[in-house]
Amino acid sequence: MSFDQNPWGGFDDPFTDPDWDYLDQVPAEPEVRLNPQQQRAVDHDEGPALVVAGAGSGKTKTLVARVVELLRHRALPTEILCVTFTRKAAKEMSHRISEQAPGSSKHLTISTFHSLCLSMARDTPHLVGREEGFTVWDDKTSSRELRRIVRESGSKKKEVTVGQLVSILSDSKQKFFREGCEQGWGSVEAVRDCLAEYEALKKAANALDFDDLLYLVSRGLDRFPDTARAYQEKWVWVMVDEYQDTNPVQEHILSVVTAHHRNLMVVGDEDQAIYGFRGAEVDHILTFTERYPDAVVIELGQNYRSSDSVVGAAARLISHNELRRPKRIWTESEKGWDVEYPCFRDSFHEADYIARTIKASIEAGYAPEEHAVLVRMRRQLHCLQLALSQQEVAYDTVGSVDFWQRSDVKLILSWLKVTLNVFDLASASEVFSRWPRIGAATVARWRKSAGNNDKGALASMTFLHGHPGCGIETMRGKSITKFREVHAELQDRVRQAHPVRDLVTWLYASTGIDAEIATAKDSNVRKEAEEAQARIELRHSFIAMCPDDEPHNGHDGISSFLDSAINDRGVDEKGNAVVLSTIHGSKGLEWDHVWVVGMVEGIIPSCVFREDPSRKEIEEERRLAYVAVTRSRKRLVLSRYPVMAKNGENLFVKPSRYLVETAEKMPEPDPPLHPAPSQKVITIAKGQSRDRNLPKWRSRLCRARDLPKIGVITIE
Ligand SMILES: Nc1ncnc2c1ncn2[C@@H]1O[C@H](COP(=O)(O)OP(=O)(O)O)[C@@H](O)[C@H]1O
Ligand SMILES: [Mg+2]
Repeated sequence: MSFDQNPWGGFDDPFTDPDWDYLDQVPAEPEVRLNPQQQRAVDHDEGPALVVAGAGSGKTKTLVARVVELLRHRALPTEILCVTFTRKAAKEMSHRISEQAPGSSKHLTISTFHSLCLSMARDTPHLVGREEGFTVWDDKTSSRELRRIVRESGSKKKEVTVGQLVSILSDSKQKFFREGCEQGWGSVEAVRDCLAEYEALKKAANALDFDDLLYLVSRGLDRFPDTARAYQEKWVWVMVDEYQDTNPVQEHILSVVTAHHRNLMVVGDEDQAIYGFRGAEVDHILTFTERYPDAVVIELGQNYRSSDSVVGAAARLISHNELRRPKRIWTESEKGWDVEYPCFRDSFHEADYIARTIKASIEAGYAPEEHAVLVRMRRQLHCLQLALSQQEVAYDTVGSVDFWQRSDVKLILSWLKVTLNVFDLASASEVFSRWPRIGAATVARWRKSAGNNDKGALASMTFLHGHPGCGIETMRGKSITKFREVHAELQDRVRQAHPVRDLVTWLYASTGIDAEIATAKDSNVRKEAEEAQARIELRHSFIAMCPDDEPHNGHDGISSFLDSAINDRGVDEKGNAVVLSTIHGSKGLEWDHVWVVGMVEGIIPSCVFREDPSRKEIEEERRLAYVAVTRSRKRLVLSRYPVMAKNGENLFVKPSRYLVETAEKMPEPDPPLHPAPSQKVITIAKGQSRDRNLPKWRSRLCRARDLPKIGVITIE
């Protein structure tokens, strides 16, 4: 290539900058042959494009191929922006791209909407109305502050709950109907006052919450056209995966960022839109061509992921939805194993059977990580976790415990936050209220003055020394003095540019967590000792993930570390283990063996217990079932049971309508995997037991007939 053909214009010279070395290594041919439609998407020139496709038709693969193609012929990595829906998907995409274009991924922007907005806000904080070095509050911190505001608002207490506030805030920000909602709040004065106070508090604390990140960036892009223009010129090529799940705020950000070049390629499948509850609107994909009339539309139909049996089941299922473009989903794969429909006595038997089957499957030579069990609701996970542990099968639960929310970790993050941003009242309260001898009353007293202190929240602590019980000679007074010393020393260490790992280790020791763990470890109470052990393991993994070298030291190190914690909201997976996940968490992933458990009315669809669920809700739940089914490459098991515990009652439940819809003909489980439930169940009318002690009466009845307790069912 001569310089005449150099597409890099005024940018770094790729021939002398070692960073661009990988360009020679981008292969001329992608490793798998794409089909003609996929190739069309890859070769798409400039202008908007919509790639619509069924599950497993290679949407993500096509996006990756397109990025590689752009890198080969016409784009600098810095000009490319890929937006995906989950952190896992972003990681996977950058991994796949760097396999084909080694070294490129550090220059590309591949991120979720949240991490994209966070980095925009860091680069241009005026966009979000904050100063440099702002902190981001997680959901727990936000709720805690809202709870305090509601509590302190006294008489308004009964009119508004924290739950209401959180959902009003989140809904209005995600759906972008802020003005509309603000007017709505007007009718409930208490709501409006509390929210106004919360917004003012965040502003004074130079902090944002999660919803703000997206909402304020999208607002800021409108308000600051020059900044918007800079982003428009920076990202020449914008691609979005899982477009069907964008909400109005995200959609707005995309439309502004791409307004100049208009090179927006969105990839999605309206049949997999499952985030309606977070404000996503399936309409965005359905109306893309109305908003971009010149968009090229490319349809991918062939499924490469799954066997013919699985593809058939998925196609039958989704054909029952009305709110969709009819499309043909087909595959050239072999028929493969039939879909299985076992029926168990209850969820415990189901879990037990699945754990044993997976164990056998692993012993037969299938890799553990090729097995996934998917649930509709998080609470279904417990008995599966128990059953797998009993069979000694290792499992990873996708996004289960939020690592960063664990108490010790959260406390240390708050210390770091308040060191970077001395005005962050909420984080300061968190660290202060966990300090020995400091109770809620002391914190409340201190907060009254702390907000107005122009030297920062913790600087106002001396104020407490004049208060009864807080004199410097009292125990509490000494404790406050000690707190200030630790805080001052931390600030010194940050100034001296200690690595983050040293700071975290030091905080473990200086804030008393280490001592607490050491005491609990030797406790005679088993539960306490076990908890201490878990905290030790947590400490280990937390410290291990902290950077301990240049350029990750001091202030900048902490700042980027905290940002990575915001973007990484899941646990690190062990790998090499069976995967447990909610269906929502399974989006975009695939496994050879997939179990979808509890396929009964009331779990999926979950809304049937409410009166009159709307067609829209039933369709969204059907899309969830469709996502679950299409995760499987080879083996698909849809299991159910006839009896389910709900609110202390055992209910008869019907097989999920979705399960029935996947089947050509509803097969009977053959042979029954567990004794047929009808032989083991006694039904009683509700009134029959009303004047008795129901649990005792049930136990007696079961004992008399040699039945397990679950064998007695109350019906209307
Ligand atoms: N042209 C192709 N030839 C062979 N396999 C393909 C092709 N396109 C996609 N695949 C495979 O199909 C599976 C699903 O691809 P993926 O991109 O994850 O689909 P989607 O994003 O549409 O759900 C992957 O295992 C991928 O490697
Ligand atoms: Mg995909």
